Amino acid sequence: MTDLTPVLTATWDAEESWKLSTYEQHGGYGALKKALGMEPGDIIQMVKDSGLRGRGGAGFPTGMKWGFLPPDDGGPRYLVVNADESEPGTCKDIPTMLSAPQILVEGVAITSYAIGCNHAFIYVRGEVTHVYRRLLQAVREAYEAGHLGKNIHGSGFDLDVTVHAGAGAYICGEETALLDSLEGRRGQPRLKPPFPAVAGLYARPTVVNNVESVSSVPAIIDRGVGWFTAMGTERSKGMGIFSLSGHVNRPGQYEAPLGITLRELIDMAGGMRDGKKLKFWTPGGSSTPIFTDEHLDTPLDYESVGAAGSMLGTRALQIFDETTCVVRVVTRWTEFYKHESCGKCTPCREGTYWLTQILKRVEGGRGTDADIQQLLDTCESILGRAFCALGDGATSSISSSVKLFRDEYERHVTEGCCPFDHAASALFDYETKAIEEAHA
Ligand SMILES: Cc1cc2nc3c(=O)[nH]c(=O)nc-3n(C[C@H](O)[C@H](O)[C@H](O)COP(=O)(O)O)c2cc1C
Ligand code: SF4
Repeated sequence: MTDLTPVLTATWDAEESWKLSTYEQHGGYGALKKALGMEPGDIIQMVKDSGLRGRGGAGFPTGMKWGFLPPDDGGPRYLVVNADESEPGTCKDIPTMLSAPQILVEGVAITSYAIGCNHAFIYVRGEVTHVYRRLLQAVREAYEAGHLGKNIHGSGFDLDVTVHAGAGAYICGEETALLDSLEGRRGQPRLKPPFPAVAGLYARPTVVNNVESVSSVPAIIDRGVGWFTAMGTERSKGMGIFSLSGHVNRPGQYEAPLGITLRELIDMAGGMRDGKKLKFWTPGGSSTPIFTDEHLDTPLDYESVGAAGSMLGTRALQIFDETTCVVRVVTRWTEFYKHESCGKCTPCREGTYWLTQILKRVEGGRGTDADIQQLLDTCESILGRAFCALGDGATSSISSSVKLFRDEYERHVTEGCCPFDHAASALFDYETKAIEEAHA
C-alpha cells in the first residue's frame, strides 16, 4: 500500500496556514537561504537531477526547460508562473495558493535566482478573486520580511514579483496565450517557434512553469535530490497532488508519490459513494481520454498512463459511478470546450460548435446512428489539425467514450431518450422549442 507523502500540502491543516509566520515556523524560506549560497547553475543541475517534470499537464522536465534559456545578454529574462487552472476537474493549484501561498513565493524566488530573473509574474485566473487577494497578501508579507525586493538576505540578488489577475479564460492557461494576455493583448496562442525560452514575455527569454512545479522546488533544494528521487517511478519522480472529485466518499487533494493507483486512492477516499460501482474516470482532467474500472491498477505515472492510452495531465481524477450517463458528461465537457475555444483556428472553432450540436441531439434522444459516426469523423478532423492543444483535448473524451461505451450512445438513439435520465430528453425538447421560437 502506497502512503501519502504530504510536502506541498504539509501545512494545509495548520492554523492560519496562509500566513508567512506559520510557513516560517514549519521551516519555510530555509531553502531560499540555502539556494542563495549556491551557484545558479548548480540549482538548475539539482532540479535536472531530481527528474522533476512540469506539473501543468505536459510533464516536460523542469530543469531542462530552465536550461534552454540562452546565455545572459545583459537584458531582462522572466519567470511566469501559470496559475490559470481552468481545466474541468483540475483543482490543485487553487487550494495550494489558498492554503500555502508562501511555498509558491519561495519557489518563485529560488527559480528566479537560478535562471537570472529579476522580475517574476504570477498569472492567476481572474474568477478566483479570493486567491488573487491571498497571493497579493503573501507577496506583500514576503517583501516585508526581505524574502523579495532588493538585495535579498544580503545576497545582492534583486527580485520583484507581480501578481496579475487574468480575465478568466481557459485558453489563457496555454503558455503563449497567457503571455499575450499578460502583455495586454487578447489571449490567443502564438505560433511556435520561437518558444518562450527564446522569445517569451516582451520577446525576452522566459520560463513558464505551473504553480505545483515551482512550489516543488524549495523541498528539492532543502531535502536533496536523493529524497525526491526515492519517491515515484523510474521516469516519473517525486510526489504530486492527486485531485479526486465526483462519486467518492471523501473527495479532495491526496498528495502521493507518482505511480500510486486509482484503486489505492479510492480506498484513501473512503471508497465509492453509496457503495456504487466505478463506471469511468479521467486520469488527467477532461482533456484526457477516459478510463474505466479496467484501469484501476494502472500506475499513475506519465509512462504507464500513456501506455494505457491516456495522459497523466494534471492528475485531475474525476470519478463517475454506474448511475452516470457518459453521453451527458461528455456533452457538458464539450460545451465547455466550445465556449472556451478562442476562435483562432477553424478546426477547433467550427468543430467544437458542431460536436456540441450533435452531442446535444444524441443526449436528448433525437440522434441517429449517422450522428455517432459524425462525432468520430469530426473529432478526426480536429485532432492534430488545430493550432493548439485545446482542440485535441476537446476530442479526447468523445473518441474514448464512443470507443468504450458505444452501446450507450446507441441506446440513446434506439430508445429515443436518455436511458439514465429522461429529464435530459425533456430539456432537449424545451431548448429546441425555445430556439425555434426565437427564430420564428
Ligand atoms: C488550453 C490549455 C490550457 C492550459 N492550462 C494550463 C493551466 O491552467 N495551468 C498550467 O500550468 N498549464 C496549463 N497548460 C499547459 C501550459 O501551456 C504549459 O505547458 C505549462 O504551464 C508549463 O508548465 P510546467 O512545465 O511547469 O508544467 C494549458 C495548456 C493548454 C493547451
Ligand atoms: S485550437 Fe481552439 S483554442 Fe487553440 S488556437 Fe485553435 S481555436 Fe484557439
